Amino acid sequence: TDPAIIRNFCIIAHIDHGKSTLADRMLQLTGLVDDRSMRAQYLDRMDIERERGITIKSQAVRMPYEKDGQPYVLNMIDTPGHVDFTYEVSRSLEACEGAVLLVDAAQGIEAQTLANLYLAIDADLHIIPVLNKIDLPSAQPEKYAAEIAGIIGCDPSEVLKVSAKTGEGVRELLDHIVAEIPAPVGDAEAPARALIFDSVYDTYRGVVTYVRVVDGELSHRERILMMSTKATHEVLEVGVISPEPKKVDRLAVGETGYLITGVKEVRQSRVGDTVTSAVRPASEALSGYQHPNPMVYAGLYPIDGDDFPVLREALEKLQLNDAALTYEPETSGALGFGFRIGFLGLLHMEIVRERLEREFNLDLISTAPNVVYRVIMEDGSEHIVTNPSEYPTSGKIAEVHEPVVKATILAPAEYIGTILELCQTRRGIQQGLDYLSEDRVEIRYELPLAEIVFDFFDALKSRTKGYASLDYDEAGEQAADLVKVDILLHGDPVDAFSAIVHKDKAYAYGIAMAGKLKELIPRQQFEVPIQAAIGARVIARETIRAIRKDVLAKCYGGDISRKRKLLEKQKEGKKRMKMVGRVEVPQEAFVAALSTG
Ligand code: GTP
Repeated sequence: TDPAIIRNFCIIAHIDHGKSTLADRMLQLTGLVDDRSMRAQYLDRMDIERERGITIKSQAVRMPYEKDGQPYVLNMIDTPGHVDFTYEVSRSLEACEGAVLLVDAAQGIEAQTLANLYLAIDADLHIIPVLNKIDLPSAQPEKYAAEIAGIIGCDPSEVLKVSAKTGEGVRELLDHIVAEIPAPVGDAEAPARALIFDSVYDTYRGVVTYVRVVDGELSHRERILMMSTKATHEVLEVGVISPEPKKVDRLAVGETGYLITGVKEVRQSRVGDTVTSAVRPASEALSGYQHPNPMVYAGLYPIDGDDFPVLREALEKLQLNDAALTYEPETSGALGFGFRIGFLGLLHMEIVRERLEREFNLDLISTAPNVVYRVIMEDGSEHIVTNPSEYPTSGKIAEVHEPVVKATILAPAEYIGTILELCQTRRGIQQGLDYLSEDRVEIRYELPLAEIVFDFFDALKSRTKGYASLDYDEAGEQAADLVKVDILLHGDPVDAFSAIVHKDKAYAYGIAMAGKLKELIPRQQFEVPIQAAIGARVIARETIRAIRKDVLAKCYGGDISRKRKLLEKQKEGKKRMKMVGRVEVPQEAFVAALSTG
C-alpha cells in the first residue's frame, strides 16, 4: 500500500466515554463488519474485556475508506482507558500519527482524558478533539467544547460532535481523520525496521507478533532478525486484522499487521523490540519503549501445590502478552511455593489473576498487595523490600523509604472540601488547585503510593457521588516512619499476613486486621488466638472460639436434597481454604488487609 493513503490513528478517552462504541460504528460505517454480524464491542476479544465492558489490550484494525472517490486505508488502534494501563496507551501511540480525543458530552474532561492527551502530545500526534454522546439529553456540547478548546488551544467550533451510539457525525469524523492526520513517512528502500507493539500467545498458531513497519518491508517467507535478542526466524505468515486476521504478502512502510514465525518460545518476541531483515539488517534499532515499573507487588500461590509448574508456565505466556508483568519465585511458610508478582495497579492485579485462573485453569490464592520499600540500615547496607516478610528483623534500621506519586483529581468544585480532607488523612501534601471552568477544579497532591493504590479511588468516588476522576504518576520516594506489623495465628506468625504500615496507623491497623480475621476465619475444632504484633510487642488480640463443625445437625434428619445441598455448599466453601499450620484459612483472609487500610 502506498503510504500516502494510509492513516494510522488511535482513540484516546477516559474510561466509559465511548471508545469501543465509536470503534464499533467505524467498523460498520467502513463496511468492515456488516450489520448482521455486528455485536457490541466487537474488538474486545477477551472474555474478561467483554464481561467487564472495558478494553485491556490494544487492537489494531485495518479499515478501507473512500473520500471524494479516493481510496484510503485507515488503521485504528483501540487503547485502554484505565489508569493501570497507561503503559499500553503510550505503546499504541507510538504506532500512530494522529489521535481522536474522545470526551463524553455529558461529563466533560476527566483525569484520564488529560493524562492520555499529554501522552499524545508528547508523542507528537495530531489531535482531533471530539465530543461523544451528543444524543444524551444531559449532554452539554457547547460548555464542554469550550473546556476542551481551552486545554488544547483550539477554537470551540473545531471540536467535532458525534454520537457513537446513533452514528451521527461519525462519517464527518472519518473525513477529518483522512484530511488532517499526516500519512506515515518512512524509507521504503531502507533495510526493514518494524516496531513490535504487541505480542500474543495463541494456542494454535504459537506467538503472534503485532508490528508497525517504519522503514522497508516485511514479507512472507523471509528471514527476520529480532534486534535485541538476535534471534532469527522465518516468517510463516504476515497479515492484517480486518477485522479478523487476513493473510497478505507483505507489510510495507506505515502499515500495521501481524507476523507468525511458528515460534513457541514466548521470550523471543519482545514488545518494544525492532524486527529487521536477517539478510539485510538495519544498523540501528528503533527507540522502543521504556519498561514500566511495577507499582504494587503481591504473592500468588496455587491452592494445589502440584500446580506450581503450571503457574510458572502460565506466567511465562502471560508475560509475553502483558509486558508490564514481572514475577519471581518465592516461598511462604504459610502458603508454600508461589510467585511474587509486580503489577501496575490493583485492576491490573485482578485481571492477571482472573486470566491465570480462566485461561490456565488454576486455583490461586493471592496475598494482600504492597508497594516497594527501600530499607537503609545504620551500617549503610540497603534492602529493597517487595514482600513485607523480607523486612529486615536483625540489625538497626536507619531509614525506610516509600514511593510517592503526583496525583491529579478532577471534580465539581462543590467537592473541594471533602477531597482535600481525604488527601490530608492519606498523608498528602497539596501541590495546587486550578479551576478548569466555573464549576470544575483540578486538584494536585503528592501522596504516598501506599495510601492511594488500594482503596483511595473508591473513597474518592463515594465522597463525590462518583463525579471525581483520578490519575497519578510516579514521583520518586520519601523517607517515612514505617513499621512492620505481624499477625500471629495460634501463636505462629503467618508471613503472608505481614504488612508495612505508617507508625501512626499501626495500632488501628492491628486492631482492624485481628477483628477482620476473626470474622473471616471459620471456627475450628480448637480455640484460635489471633494477635497483631510489632516485633515482640503485641498490639491487638482476638480469639476465635472452638466449635464442633457438624452442618448436618441442623437438618434434623429431614429432607435429603436439602442435606445434599448443604454438603455441596460446604464443599464449595472449602475450595479456597488453605491450611496454615493447623488452622483452615479462607482466601478472603489473605487480602483482608486491603479493606482495613
Ligand atoms: P473502556 O473500553 O472501558 O475504556 O470504555 P469505552 O470508552 O470503550 O466505553 P464504551 O464504548 O464501552 O461506552 C461506555 C458506555 O457509554 C456504554 O454503555 C455505551 O453504550 C455508552 N455510549 C457510548 N457512546 C454513546 C453515545 O454516543 N450515546 C450514548 N447515549 N451512549 C453511548
